[in-house]
Amino acid sequence: MSDTSIALELTDIHKSYGSLEVLKGVSLKANDGDVISILGSSGSGKSTLLRCINLLEQPAKGQVIIGGEELKLKTGKSGDLEAENRKQLEDMRSRIGFVFQSFNLWPHKTILGNIIEAPMNVLKQPREQAVERAEGLLKKVGLYEKKDAYPGNLSGGQQQRVAIARALAMDPQVLLFDEPTSALDPELVNEVLSVMRELADEGRTMLIVTHEMRFARDVSSQVVFLHQGQIEEIGPPEQVFENPKSQRVRDFMSSHN
Ligand SMILES: Nc1ncnc2c1ncn2[C@@H]1O[C@H](COP(=O)(O)OP(=O)(O)OP(=O)(O)O)[C@@H](O)[C@H]1O
Ligand SMILES: [Mg+2]
Repeated sequence: MSDTSIALELTDIHKSYGSLEVLKGVSLKANDGDVISILGSSGSGKSTLLRCINLLEQPAKGQVIIGGEELKLKTGKSGDLEAENRKQLEDMRSRIGFVFQSFNLWPHKTILGNIIEAPMNVLKQPREQAVERAEGLLKKVGLYEKKDAYPGNLSGGQQQRVAIARALAMDPQVLLFDEPTSALDPELVNEVLSVMRELADEGRTMLIVTHEMRFARDVSSQVVFLHQGQIEEIGPPEQVFENPKSQRVRDFMSSHN
């Protein structure tokens, strides 16, 4: 199990909320450098799937492998799976960057403070090193001049670019994005998508839940269409967007154009 070219492997992920079965056995593999877009209608299980990867939600069944290392799971009191080993979970979480729709920056920390927090506390980087890296990342996302500002004084698009820089500061093996532009005013969407495009071009491994169809078609190596907790179709963007096998995907595409 030490195939390091596989960045992320999910096997047979199941999740229910009470009697509602939200994920019905999803398996997915991302090689290093893959950009996988996850599409599907509201309630199909996209967010739940991303959140099961780092146990923000506890799956009922399944396996998660990051960079060849299997997350050790055991059945907890609730009947769902939980980490066998807290330390391994924390270590694996530190290798998975998560960018949420709602940014989730710490409001009382400066932009720089937001970015250096985890590298200093989790990776034990010395402050100077963390600051130097954070400043480089802020330049990359075009926000160096905002380093001493607070999140509340930034636009949504700027906050989301900071959230991306914060995720990158941990040098994650995989980046997960859950509708990163859905909370933004339309005129701010492109500044975030262009940062994400750059990351894709650099060969970052990313899983992206998005409704930005053109973006997904341009950047993805694979596109996954989820329907009621199962993969309805998976393939290269040319297939899933231009010539889907599934009628359901066809209908979805024609209503999203
Ligand atoms: N904590 C929870 N408790 C109960 N039900 C939940 C919970 N989280 C999600 N669900 C339900 O699980 C289903 C899948 O939700 P999920 O958020 O994964 O969908 P989604 O594909 O991300 O949808 P959207 O496009 O609206 O974000 C939905 O029916 C939702 O109501
Ligand atoms: Mg969602």
